[in-house]
Amino acid sequence: MRFEIRTLATSRFGAALVLALLTALADAARAGEPPADPGEGKVLYQRYCVSCHGERGDGNGEAAPFISPRPRDYRQGIFKSRSTPSGSLPVPSDVEKTIENGLYGTRMPSWYALGHRARRDLIAYVQTFSARWQTEEPKTPIVIPDEPPPSPQSIERGREIYQQTGCADCHGDRGAGDGPSAKAGLQDTWGNPVVPANLTAGHGKFGDSSADLYRVLMTGVDGTPMPAFTDVLTAEQTWDLVHYIRSLRRAAEPWTTRLEAASAHAASVATMLVSQY
Ligand code: HEC
Ligand code: HEC
Repeated sequence: MRFEIRTLATSRFGAALVLALLTALADAARAGEPPADPGEGKVLYQRYCVSCHGERGDGNGEAAPFISPRPRDYRQGIFKSRSTPSGSLPVPSDVEKTIENGLYGTRMPSWYALGHRARRDLIAYVQTFSARWQTEEPKTPIVIPDEPPPSPQSIERGREIYQQTGCADCHGDRGAGDGPSAKAGLQDTWGNPVVPANLTAGHGKFGDSSADLYRVLMTGVDGTPMPAFTDVLTAEQTWDLVHYIRSLRRAAEPWTTRLEAASAHAASVATMLVSQY
């Protein structure tokens, strides 16, 4: 009997059991988090966000006139980066991803150093600027299926889909963001000029992984002319497009842009740490 107990504790099954227990405990700790505190969020907002997003959350902070794209006006409850379908509010983890990573290529910095708790409180305060958060629930996030392996054939199919679906009209024949519509001038919901993404830029505003690209294509960029292609493209076609876009990015000296992004991130973390003391 004693022998049996020892084998259980030292076996792989025993280790898996301990691991499962620990994971369950960690989940319980997250689930049992105290509710986010908009009051704390307000204090943080006035310290870190107000200069761009404004006292009233209207995107009209002191620095805003000098910034393009403009800081978000929160009053309409419209968010660009979501895992939820076009037109829906984002889920809190979508907003947290934006605040944690920043939006590459814009003045929205990474607030990684603030930590999860502070970001949750900030989100709760941001939610007070639009009544949508009281009257609506975010829709269920889209499902991102497993990525098929990239291949030259998939990239070629992606190139054709890109031409056939009208992407070039905005993003240009080679993805440089210089299609005819871009040249004519596009506007966002807030009446400001908006430029189609340069898909050869090596980095994306909404993340660099294949899943991030898949998500943008399926949920669109709300508040801008970038549509969601849920009803137009199948999952296979969307992955082909993702592989094509990644091939455009690879051509754009990824190692230099990556270094640039890494040092920008390090600099913003350093600024945060310094400003806290
Ligand atoms: C230096 C200016 C600046 C500061 C400071 C700043 N932001 Fe932003 N923020 C921006 C800009 C610019 C955008 C819009 C980028 C775009 O539309 O592509 C933005 C967008 C956002 C969005 C909208 C994301 C979406 O999906 O549409 C959120 C949420 C956000 N910021 C949160 C914050 C929070 C919270 C803080 C403070 C901790 C903060 N920002 C501080 C400039 C700033
Ligand atoms: C009517 C114009 C228009 C069309 C058509 C269009 N886009 Fe866009 N797209 C935009 C704009 C504008 C943005 C930038 C939104 C922003 O960041 O504010 C964008 C952003 C994107 C992004 C996000 C890049 C990043 O930085 O993460 C991807 C990827 C993208 N488009 C791919 C496509 C593909 C592929 C197609 C065709 C299936 C397409 N777009 C069709 C206007 C368009």
